Amino acid sequence: MYLNPVMKAIIIAVTVALTAVSSTSAYFDFGDVEIKDFEETTGEQGGNVIILPTEEDHPLFNDDKLGVFDFSGIIGSAQPEPEPEPEPVPGDTDEDGIQDDFDLDGKTDVIPGAVKEVVNTSEMPVWDKSGEYMEINKLMLVNRSNPVTADYVPVDLVRPDYYATNRSESGQYMTREACDAFNKLAGDAEALGYEIVVTTAYRSYNFQSYLYNMYVERDGQEAADRKSAKPGTSEHQSGLTADVSSPSVGYELVQDYGDTAEGIWLAENCYKYGFILRFPEGKEGITGYMYEPWHIRYVGQDVARTIYALDITFEEYCEQYLNL
Ligand code: DAL
Ligand code: ZN
Repeated sequence: MYLNPVMKAIIIAVTVALTAVSSTSAYFDFGDVEIKDFEETTGEQGGNVIILPTEEDHPLFNDDKLGVFDFSGIIGSAQPEPEPEPEPVPGDTDEDGIQDDFDLDGKTDVIPGAVKEVVNTSEMPVWDKSGEYMEINKLMLVNRSNPVTADYVPVDLVRPDYYATNRSESGQYMTREACDAFNKLAGDAEALGYEIVVTTAYRSYNFQSYLYNMYVERDGQEAADRKSAKPGTSEHQSGLTADVSSPSVGYELVQDYGDTAEGIWLAENCYKYGFILRFPEGKEGITGYMYEPWHIRYVGQDVARTIYALDITFEEYCEQYLNL
């Protein structure tokens, strides 16, 4: 029997990586993309794996698409020894004044290890044991001209305390420093009566690939390229970025968010916590993407303050201050 590579991927993934099928024909909403009729399973080590429908005539199932998508970037049964947690240094602060004495205490869930093995098909970018697990430079520029590799995985991803409960947990992680800053932002917003939560943050190369292809299929290439980054060119893969939303817009990612009380507060105050609005209104010619009032990027307080004060984009900052 001929099995196309995607079907093989599913079979291998089910055989090797998974222990239980938890649901079928369920409904899944990730960001602003809806995926229906999938099976969600739990890997041996807890990674979420989504299996798209196996009918070959299903619109989501053809040789151009990933048949198996791992939202957390964790596929496979092999699990590396977890890195020992560094001892916190009480009161230690970095140059941005952010406290480094992170208190996990169940507030955040550290992803155990990172991606070490994937189903190896010609369709899927391969993350293997030679993949680099890089310390994140919070000023790293990721855009069309500055891509990261498919196996680029940020170390030390943790989940913020403030997240949308109608989204998949496995897409809600950020690098530790960005996460800590976001918790402060969301906590202060909460004290003012604003609920600001992460919908999605870190996205693996595979997931970005899936999203991008979905947009191209749904809206056409030109429209897709205005709002979705090709895999490898999305800073969501850096772990420094979050898409956030609020109940006033149903936790959706819509441009009207910029006119809500939460969206206005976010735009005017996020720099105090080290974040910038990465795709401001009217700057598409520079950033390459349309206005996204929900997409914040961590760069640290000093740089965020400069970008806010000068009303420039991160591209302009990098060119003017970092000679990139
Ligand atoms: N929506 C932004 C551009 C991304 O896909 O990374
Ligand atoms: Zn985003």
